[in-house]
Amino acid sequence: MDLLLPHARTSPAQLLTTAPRCQSLPAAVGNTPVLWIDEPFAKAGNGFWAKLEGANPGGMKDRPALHMIDCARRRGELAPGAMIVESTSGTLGLGLALAGIAYGHPVTLVTDPGMEPILHRLLAAYGARIELVSEPHPTGGWQEARRQRVAEVLADNPGAYCPDQYHNPDNVSAYSALAMELVAQLGRVDVLVCSVGTGGHSAGVSRVLREFCPDLRLVGVDTIGSTIFGQPARRRLMRGLGSSIYPRNVAYDSFDEVHWVAPRESVWASRALAATNFATGGWSVGAVALVAGWLARNAEPDTRIAAIFPDGPQRYYTTVFNDEYCQAHGLLDGPPPTDPAEISHPLAAEVTGWTRCHTVIDPAAGTR
Ligand SMILES: Cc1ncc(COP(=O)(O)O)c(C=O)c1O
Repeated sequence: MDLLLPHARTSPAQLLTTAPRCQSLPAAVGNTPVLWIDEPFAKAGNGFWAKLEGANPGGMKDRPALHMIDCARRRGELAPGAMIVESTSGTLGLGLALAGIAYGHPVTLVTDPGMEPILHRLLAAYGARIELVSEPHPTGGWQEARRQRVAEVLADNPGAYCPDQYHNPDNVSAYSALAMELVAQLGRVDVLVCSVGTGGHSAGVSRVLREFCPDLRLVGVDTIGSTIFGQPARRRLMRGLGSSIYPRNVAYDSFDEVHWVAPRESVWASRALAATNFATGGWSVGAVALVAGWLARNAEPDTRIAAIFPDGPQRYYTTVFNDEYCQAHGLLDGPPPTDPAEISHPLAAEVTGWTRCHTVIDPAAGTR
């Protein structure tokens, strides 16, 4: 393997760089690298490509944050200088803080005590105001409690705008560029592995990728205790992926299979990624890497697998990468099983560890 940096081999005059020269920060969003990952997740040479969205200024959600705000401004739903209000567990908050600075809007983010202290400080530094809900909603959990607080803030601030990432189609269309980047970088994608929270990136990337790769298989990765794919709502430790509501942006028809992953399994994978590949992230990155590695181990040779890594490791130093936290939550039990358990239907059993299912249902169908 040639480990030399490309720049070390050429003079500035000869250097053909693809790095953009940015007049403003939004131009620095996107165009993220893909990294080849095999061992210890798969045999050398039989791995998968990780799309490193942590290379964005804030993370993957810079893309939908900028796009949703741009669309709202164009449609006249968000007046110049008006307030942006959103419920977020973090990554979209960073993107909205960026959009607020870029477009000149004050940003209020409604979150819950699960948000990591480092994110609070960062968001405050970026000028966002944080509204913390103190109690979960009796049936809808923290997410519903946050949603209700957003409604109150909107009522108290005429002209304020909520992008509503769970149901806003602009959250989906924001990912067209990511799909095009994958086509440019990989040529062909056979399997796409995405974590699912609002459903935005799995829906948006797969929709555009299928125009180029009609046989694409989409594998969704959720956390145990999440309602998205039909499991009962339970207290969830993992942030980012998973939900206690039924976001309309989840494109159920697009998925070929779903995997649920437990926090201890995701922690093992995030830490294994860090120790062997350096490129890592938090709950969703660990879960996605675990599933992508298993798919790579079991795929026909030459199957091209792309896995979206939504962010980097920084905000997880107090959770995923903190031994005390992990011990207190029983997350350091050693490697996960080699293969996931399997159920025939999401309603067949409540899953408590890594499990896959080929039947994908919309649990809220008929109620929408
Ligand atoms: C870190 C992280 N990973 C994964 C996801 C899930 O992405 P999506 O909302 O596009 O389904 C999110 C969503 O907030 C996230 O913040």
